[in-house]
Amino acid sequence: MDLDAALHAQLAHTLDRTSWTTMAGRGPLVRYDGKVRDCYIDRGRGERVIVVTDRLSAFDMVIGLIPFKGQVLNQLAQYWFRETAHLAPNHVVASPDPNVCIGREVRPLAVELVMRAYLTGVTSTSVWKAYEAGARSFAGHALPDGLRKNQPLPQPILTPSTKAAKGGHDVTVSKDELLAMGQVTPDEFERAAAIAARLFAFGQARAAERGLILADTKYEMGVTDAGEVIVIDEIHTPDSSRYWYAEDYEARLAAGQEPRSLDKEYVRRYLAEEAGYRGDGPPPPLPDHVRVEAAKRYIASFEQVTGTRFEPVAGDARARIAAVLGAA
Ligand SMILES: Nc1ncnc2c1ncn2[C@@H]1O[C@H](COP(=O)(O)OP(=O)(O)OP(=O)(O)O)[C@@H](O)[C@H]1O
Ligand SMILES: [Mg+2]
Repeated sequence: MDLDAALHAQLAHTLDRTSWTTMAGRGPLVRYDGKVRDCYIDRGRGERVIVVTDRLSAFDMVIGLIPFKGQVLNQLAQYWFRETAHLAPNHVVASPDPNVCIGREVRPLAVELVMRAYLTGVTSTSVWKAYEAGARSFAGHALPDGLRKNQPLPQPILTPSTKAAKGGHDVTVSKDELLAMGQVTPDEFERAAAIAARLFAFGQARAAERGLILADTKYEMGVTDAGEVIVIDEIHTPDSSRYWYAEDYEARLAAGQEPRSLDKEYVRRYLAEEAGYRGDGPPPPLPDHVRVEAAKRYIASFEQVTGTRFEPVAGDARARIAAVLGAA
């Protein structure tokens, strides 16, 4: 079966939601549903069983199900966690299934560590929108005059973002504003910032070897009982990062065109331009051809970043995962 047929066939089997209450060898589980991941928190073992579903979020909402998205996302995050383990400790304990990550349960830092290397973005919270509106300081960093959209910043900057409660929108803050909020200590911040800078430099260099530009990305970190800051959730995936193709970046910039991107911009653009959706109210359903095209782009991102072929595991992922985890 070719990829197109495989993706169409998988439309009927996308992994929407799991709802288990027990897992073999584990005591009581506390359930937490993120927009993309179903989490089962095992306080007894200090672990979080994270099921990466096929849900696609945009505009801070779930807008559809994309075939194999969960597998792509989890396997890409696993790739980066493996490749960067020498630079920063991370939460990964195991990945017993293509869609599952078992992580060490930690106290999450109440901040998203956003690293940006380019003057870009589409949402009202982006550095580009702020710059376009005349701001020459962003999250406490001075920005020079005369930059054009999608050009590199003088150097990568850390622009912390507060984590809004479910349904809310995140806000960019400076280091001083973040510390004044009192939820992150100066010591935690310094350690998290150093990790973010190291990971981002590594990610940019690796992306460049693979013909890509890692324009920006977002890290989440948490603190272990021993006080160690570690990386959690996911890293350098197309959901948490903006990747551009390097080969035609300069030519497109010179021609005033947007860079070709490898992230979920495709679906956002479909909703905005073809469905006229601006993020108000429930989103319109995604047509099958859009879901399949989005899947192709997620798979392309995996293959471009890792330089290896993506091997989709077709069929009923929920039953497969239940069997692997002994979940019921
Ligand atoms: N090792 C970990 N320890 C504690 N929390 C974690 C860990 N890894 C991930 N998380 C949390 O698990 C959740 C993963 O779900 P997901 O990424 O779908 O959520 P989200 O919709 O992005 O965010 P949220 O629902 O929290 O606003 C996030 O809240 C993330 O912060
Ligand atoms: Mg998340």
